[in-house]
Formats: sequence, C-alpha cells, structure tokens
Amino acid sequence: MFTIDLNGTAYRAEEDMNLLHFLRDELHITSVKNGCSEGACGACTVLVDGKATRACLVTLARVSGRKIMTVEGLPDREKEAYVRAFAEAGAVQCGFCIPGMIISAKALLDKNLDPESREIREAIRGNLCRCTGYLKIEQAIRLAAKMLRGEVQVNPPVHGGIGTNFRRIDTAEKVLGTGQYVDDMHIEDMLYGAVLRAKHPRGLVKKIDVSAARTHPGVEAVMTAEDVPGERYWGFITKDWPVLIAAGEETRYVGDAMALVAARSRKIAQEALALIKVDYEAFEPVTTTAFSLSLDAPKIHSKGNVLSTTRINRGNAVEAVAKSAYVVTNRYVTPHTEHAFIEPESSLAVPQADGGITVFAGSQSVYEDRHGIASILGLPLEKVRVVGKLVGGAFGGKEDLSVQHHAALLAMRTGQPVKLTLTRQESLLVHPKRHAMEIEMTTACDDQGKLSAVIARIAADTGAYASLGGPVLQRACTHAAGPYHVPNADITGWAVYTNNPPAGAFRGFGVPQACFACETNMDLLAERMGISPWEIRYRNALEPGDTMATGQIAGEDTAFKETLLAVKDIYQTNNFSGIASAIKNTGLGVGVPDTGRVKIVVRNRKVLVLTSAACVGQGLATILTQVISETTGLTPEKIEVGGPDTSLTPDAGTTTASRQTLFTGEAARQAALLLAEDMKHAPLARLEEKVYLGEFTAQTDPLDSTKPNPVNHVAYSYATHVVLLDDLGRVKKIVAVHDVGRAINPKAVEGQIEGGIAMGLGYALREKFPLEKGVPTARFGTLGLFRSTDMPEVEVILIGKNTSSLGYGAKGVGEIASIPTAPAVTSAYHRYDRKVRLSLPLTDTPYERA
Ligand code: FES
Ligand code: FES
Repeated sequence: MFTIDLNGTAYRAEEDMNLLHFLRDELHITSVKNGCSEGACGACTVLVDGKATRACLVTLARVSGRKIMTVEGLPDREKEAYVRAFAEAGAVQCGFCIPGMIISAKALLDKNLDPESREIREAIRGNLCRCTGYLKIEQAIRLAAKMLRGEVQVNPPVHGGIGTNFRRIDTAEKVLGTGQYVDDMHIEDMLYGAVLRAKHPRGLVKKIDVSAARTHPGVEAVMTAEDVPGERYWGFITKDWPVLIAAGEETRYVGDAMALVAARSRKIAQEALALIKVDYEAFEPVTTTAFSLSLDAPKIHSKGNVLSTTRINRGNAVEAVAKSAYVVTNRYVTPHTEHAFIEPESSLAVPQADGGITVFAGSQSVYEDRHGIASILGLPLEKVRVVGKLVGGAFGGKEDLSVQHHAALLAMRTGQPVKLTLTRQESLLVHPKRHAMEIEMTTACDDQGKLSAVIARIAADTGAYASLGGPVLQRACTHAAGPYHVPNADITGWAVYTNNPPAGAFRGFGVPQACFACETNMDLLAERMGISPWEIRYRNALEPGDTMATGQIAGEDTAFKETLLAVKDIYQTNNFSGIASAIKNTGLGVGVPDTGRVKIVVRNRKVLVLTSAACVGQGLATILTQVISETTGLTPEKIEVGGPDTSLTPDAGTTTASRQTLFTGEAARQAALLLAEDMKHAPLARLEEKVYLGEFTAQTDPLDSTKPNPVNHVAYSYATHVVLLDDLGRVKKIVAVHDVGRAINPKAVEGQIEGGIAMGLGYALREKFPLEKGVPTARFGTLGLFRSTDMPEVEVILIGKNTSSLGYGAKGVGEIASIPTAPAVTSAYHRYDRKVRLSLPLTDTPYERA
C-alpha cells in the first residue's frame, strides 16, 4: 500500500506505479503533462516536499508518505499572481509546458522571492518550451514574484483593438492546467490503442501473424491492412502513404504501421504488440538522395524515386554569371530536424449510434483530418466529425494524420471509444521532419555589387512518403534568391524519396534551408568584393515595384530596406556581428485554393465566433477577438471564440504558411462588418441567433503563369536578424527586425519572434536528428533543443508600414521568425574566426556537442 498527500488530500494505491501515470490516469490531474516520460522536458514537474521533481522519473514507492503539490493545489493568491503575470508578460503560447514551468517557479520563489534573472533561468532549465524562447516566461516569473511581494499591481487589462497588447484570452486555462489537450480526456470504459511499427526501414513483409495477440486477455481488437474498410493509402496531394502495410508489400521507413491493437489498458496493448510476429526479408535501405537518384537504386514507389521537380527560370543566368565581376559557388548541407512540440500526438475516437464517428484531435486542420479519416473508414464525410482540442505545439508536424485515423479504425472495429497517444519515442519515429537538403548555389554580381544572377540546384530528402514534400521543395526554390532583386535566376529542385523518415511541413517550409545558402553566399560575395555584408544586402534589397525571381512585383507594403536600416548601426559598431535577411510568403498561394472563413452568431447578448482555424499556440482566438472588437466596437467580454469542430465551424483551411492572422483575420473582419452594420440599427439583444458569415479567398497565380505580374502570393513578410557574439564566441544578443505589415498584437508578435529565434538558434548551433541506416537514433533529451539558460538577449523591432485594410494590414510572422537566425549566426562566426561554414548545425562553436 502506498499513500501520498496530493494537494492536501490523501490518496492510496495498492500497486506501485510511476507517479506521472498515477496522477494522470488514476487521479485525472490534468496540469501534470506527459511530454516525454523520460525526464527530458519537465512538463510533468510537481513539488515533492517542496522540491521540483519530474513525476515521470519517480514511483509511488519513492514518494509514499510525502507531500505532492501540483498547480491545482496552489493557494488562490498564487494562482492569481501567476495567471496575471503570465498574461501581462505574454508568456503563454501553446501552453503545454506552462504548468510545469509554474511549479519550477514556485519551488524557486518559495525559497527566494526576489530572484535574479540567472536564478530564474536556472530554476526553469529543466523545463523545455518550444514556443516562447523562455524570455517572456522569465519576465512573467519576475513579475509574479513582485506581485507576491506586494510590490506591484498589474495594470488593468488592455481593451482589445488592433495594435494593442490585449492579453491572451486562454492564459488562465493554460497556466492552471484546466484547458484540455486530447490526452487529458477520459471517457469511462475507453480502450487504449497501440501501433506496431516496422522493424526495418526497407523490408519485404512476408507474413503478419496476430493470432496470439488476438487471444491475449484484455485485447478487444487487432487490425491489419486487410481490415481497413476504405482507402488504404492517403496523402494531401499524393496518396502514397499506407495506413497499414500489408503482407506482400515493402516497408518504407521504421514509422510504418504494421498492426493496430485496442486493449483495456495501455499495458495490455503493449503486451499484445509484443505477441505479433512479422516475418520480413530485410533489404539495404536507400538513405541518400544521391543513391536514390542513381540507376542502381531500387524503386521506393512504383512511379520512381522523384516525388516532384520545381524549375524557376528568369533571364539567362548562365550567361549573366559568365559576364559577372564576382561569383561565388558553394555546396550547402542542412540536416533533418525534429519539430519537438512538447505535446506528443494523441487522438480519441468515439463511435456514434448512427454509424458515424467523432474524433478528438490536436491537429492543424480538423477538415483535412475529416477528409482523410472518412476515406480510410469508407464513410461519407457527414458521418465523420472531428473536434479540435488544445494543440500543444505543432510547427508543421501535426499537418499529417498520425494517430487520428488509427484511433478511428480501432473505435469503429470495437464499437468503443479508443484513445491513442504516441510515446515520445514513437512520435520521433512517426511524424515527418524538416527536409534535409543539399544545395549547390552560385551567386554573382557586377562590379558595383548589384546581383546579376542566382543559379541553384536543390536536392531535398523527402523520405518515405510525399506528405507536403512537393510544396516544401517549391517554397525552397521560390525563395532561393532571397529578398533581393535578381534579374537572372536558374533554380531547379528535386524532392527525392528515400527510406528515411518522411519530410514535410516544418516552420519555414523549405525556406530556412534555402535562406542559409542564399545568405551565406551573400556574405562571401561581399567579402570577395570588399564591401560589408550589410552593404551588399542594402544595394540589392527588394523595394516596392522591383521584380522578384518568380516574376511577381513587390507591393507597396514591402518594407525590407527599413529592416536593414534599423540594424545598420548595431551591425556596424560591433566587432563580432553577423547579419542575415529573409523573405517569406503568407498563404498557400501559387493558384492553390485558399480561403479563411468565420461565422459569428449572436447568442445570449454576446457574439460567438466560430471557425475551424486551429490555434497551435500563436493565439488565434485572441487575434480574432481583437479584430471583431475593432470592427464592431464591442468590448472583448462580449466576444467568445469557440474551438474547431467540423459539425459547427466553417472550414478556414489549415494552420500553415503563416496564413491564419491574415486569412481568418480578414474573414472575421468581413463577418464583423456585417454585424456592425446591423448594430447601427439594433442592439445585440435584438439580433439574437442572427448569423454573419465572413470569407476571404486569395486569388493567386500558379508558378508557371505567363502574366506580366503573376501574384504568386498575396503577401510577403521580410526580416533582418543581427547576431552579436561575445569574446568567447557565445551568442550574447540578437536584434530581430521584422516587417510584419501591421502588428495586430505587438506582444504576441514579439513572442512569435522570440520563439522563432530560439528554434533558429537550435537549428544553427545544436539540433540534430541523426539516422543510422534510416533509423532515428535520437531521444528527446539528445535533440539539442535550446533551454532557458542558453538564450541570449533578444531585441525585437517591428516595422509596420502596411496600410492595407486586408486583415488590418497583418502579414504572417509565424514562420519567418525562425528563418534568418541560422545564417545570421553563421555570418557572425565568419566574422569571428574567418572560417567558412557550409553545413548545419555549425561546427567549431562553443555550442558544438560531442
Ligand atoms: S514527461 Fe517527465 S520530463 Fe518529460
Ligand atoms: S508554450 Fe511552452 S511549449 Fe508551447
């Protein structure tokens, strides 16, 4: 018998078990999150006799007789202080890490109510946050300490029009852990799903024997490929990803699903997996794009090993290079990168009496999920309802189906609710990564430093399945000339299948890789010419009216030169400074249908805002509240934003391509304009149950358009980052200047940029996702993610010169925030030691790991 005192109440357990599982599965404590179950993330942090402790690392036997405290047990005064401080500082994004942060903060503040920055950073060092960059969390803890010392009253809430630091409306539920992510859901008698993964990245499956698993006590269903009632292959554009691999087929990566199990407990489900026998003939996997493209390579898919090719041709680049005064050519290599969102994938599927199904998911688009699930189950769309829960970070890694379809298959088979949550290790294996790329790039200029041509050849390792590899390659190619006026461009890229994990969407969508090559070449060209890296960028910067490499003419909102001017002094007056710039599209563009939709319903004298657009941490509900408040004059208390639900909310497309603030923001503005018109004639009370629909569709032209000014994208953001190194070669400060059009909520924009920089620093300096013959060897704790103590000072400067009424002038910031950081760091090290570094993560820096 084990006894713990949890938040003042005694609980007993007959059997010893992991404390995290006891708290979550038996007591349904939702503030204690399971991010990794291996001590790496800190999301499960609790106080044990006042000491911050990772619940996943201790058993009941270890803590029996001791006092455990979680966020639920904080005194009300402390709860209030943390909620208000985190709201004021803008310290919450996806929220998954936040309760663990609060507990680490409490452990510190209970001992020292006036900590220095260094002490706060040390206290939360064990808590990973992939969204915020830690700086606002540190500010929030300092502010909470001040409040608890009775020294400050928090300012009254800002009332929320456009351009104000209106506080996030989801702060309290995320700080206190009451907001629900899928794995926090619990339905009486639900079953637990588990998936058997492939043993070999490339192997012929001769036989799958599930007989022993089927008869294992507590197992309710075991499914293989032949049990899939609908389409067995799915994919956004290319349907090449099997839901389950059938006997007689080849595996393509080690995340392939071989069999599904539904059982009465997680433990039984795992026992059943161990009883499944798969007979393979293993083959040598294809692990490089070079081999995959060779004549000797086996075909990974029947149509061949090239998923897609992108070509951009403007002018005559070869001739222009030949005539240029200065030319640099280099070959760049960028690695696979893991999204490392702190919430692993989870889905709960519940069969319905009418033969349909409801699936709860934490994904980037409930409508895309519904489409995939319905086709796999062989059900009409209207029989599949997908409900979006809180999303604990995504960064592109939750666009594809990962668990939703498997949970749904098991639920339909058993007729019972089934929850399927990936372990962290399985999450690392399964979801698509950032593409590893090899980029050969030539950049040339005349004797005045004006760019004459860019030639690039890009090989992108798209791994086992298409996912969004085609569009990612396309964005890498369209952005390879950078934010510059380049009259001649010859850019070709190939997305190539291998037996590595699939690669797909990841914050920046192919542009971080291209930007690293483009910007490093710019530095080396400037060096060859004898002008400064700042100067060469300024001489070539796109201005309104200039033509981009794709032929689109830069709009009046283009404020790239302003970002360069803002960093000129700091760049030039520091010894070890580096600089890089970036351009990033907003929206899908290139002629792909792209629509944001919002429905406003007047209910109970308030307005209810309904949209399927997913908040993956960026704060969409807060932005929509501000847009509607600005447009109608209603105070934020009168505005409520519901969650995504295919049965209630209109389809606003995927949260991708930095598009939601502009697309769904504009749709909200359109709906609010209709409401505002009615409010001129009647108070809200007389508009009960009236519905207002807002929609915005971007009209864009495909990449091969022959129009004189093809509008490939409706908006582009620009940014310049300057990185300062100290004398020991550590990053001491980053100045990030962003042309965001107009900041709807400057503090939220700052938060996006700080978080993007933390991710960009990891990409530049430390993050690795090593593969051994196609098999990932990393654990969550070895990915090299930046922690609180690693973060330098960050200064954010926002340029907002866009006067367009479209989306109140907002352009996307989610992706570009992390794009120029890596080449800016590279630039700084080049100035520091004159070494040329052409691959990521950078070598010969104090951050390099053994
Ligand atoms: S869940 Fe315990 S440290 Fe990650
Ligand atoms: S807010 Fe920290 S992980 Fe998302």
